[in-house]
Amino acid sequence: MRNDQKVFVAGHTGLLGSAVAGRLIHDGWGNVVTRAHKELDLTRQADVEEFFKRERPEYVFLCAGLTGGIGVNKGFPAGFLHTNLAIQDNVFEASVKHGVHSLVFYASSCVYPKGCAQPMKESDILTGSMEETSEAYAIAKLAGLKACRAYNKQYGGNCFIALLPNSMYGPHDNFDTESSHVLAALIRKIHDAKIRRSSAVRLWGSGNPLREFVFSEDVASASVFALENAWRLDNDCYNVGSGQEASIKELAAKVAYAVGYKGEIEWDMHKPDGAARKLLDCARFNALGWRPSVSLEEGIKRTYDWFLSVHGRKEDGCLQVQPQP
Ligand SMILES: NC(=O)c1ccc[n+]([C@@H]2O[C@H](COP(=O)([O-])OP(=O)(O)OC[C@H]3O[C@@H](n4cnc5c(N)ncnc54)[C@H](OP(=O)(O)O)[C@@H]3O)[C@@H](O)[C@H]2O)c1
Repeated sequence: MRNDQKVFVAGHTGLLGSAVAGRLIHDGWGNVVTRAHKELDLTRQADVEEFFKRERPEYVFLCAGLTGGIGVNKGFPAGFLHTNLAIQDNVFEASVKHGVHSLVFYASSCVYPKGCAQPMKESDILTGSMEETSEAYAIAKLAGLKACRAYNKQYGGNCFIALLPNSMYGPHDNFDTESSHVLAALIRKIHDAKIRRSSAVRLWGSGNPLREFVFSEDVASASVFALENAWRLDNDCYNVGSGQEASIKELAAKVAYAVGYKGEIEWDMHKPDGAARKLLDCARFNALGWRPSVSLEEGIKRTYDWFLSVHGRKEDGCLQVQPQP
């Protein structure tokens, strides 16, 4: 790989895409191509075909997709299925047709069976039924990672790389009151409580479930590492995590510390908890030599700094914290 080669970062305005584009620019890549969603809708096959024909990128990071918490997954399953399948299919086909060297695709820990033994190994995929609330999204992601395998088999080489990051967070995350993931939702709700000078903030569930969070810039560094080491990869997906597990209660305490909120944190036990634990076994990817570098405390601080820079102190929307599927 040479850093004058053309790279397309799809979904560069999002959580992961912004981190990947930032990482490439930081590393001296001078030919990074991006298109905002409104300029190029990746679900439109003819437009994608035209874009690849004109731009001819040599590498692709497919960070575009539809993702969100349990509420939106339950409410819009067909949208999650269709959008993700269409984006993947259009970009994969155009990549083969127009000579892309390598592409990085992102699956999700939702593809693992409900009640999977912990930590979850790549070999556990398809050994049981998925969690129903995020099934449509997970089926699209599963199709994507199996498609990577199929394209590699049919066309040769390890050109299609499937990474499976655990719950991500960081700058450019979605803090929308309806559709955000758990960590962004905690930041938003605890920030709002501080601004309103509320003596207590009420969060969903028992606070007991354990989750592993990985900072978006670490997933970006894993993505570039995977591309540079494509020749050493098996034709299979790789888990990418931080190994930093925390209960939702611990997470809320860390967020409250970063936000500077001193009120009580109460737990609404009538709300669902989601899976008790979701930890990835990243031994295969880590054995190649990659390591995460951002601690949960530092990542939360940097995410909150970004939140403040964009949403400021005046935001006063309130949101219910939903468990991540
Ligand atoms: N977030 C996580 O915890 C997590 C964990 C594992 C895997 N992943 C996967 O990683 C990828 C990136 O996730 P993320 O959290 O970075 O998502 P995100 O913040 O929501 O960003 C998604 C990006 O895709 C763009 N996009 C959506 N639909 C598009 C379309 N039809 N055409 C063109 N662009 C489109 C969005 O643009 P607009 O905002 O303008 O629509 C945005 O730039 C996704 O495939 C996701 O499934 C995420």
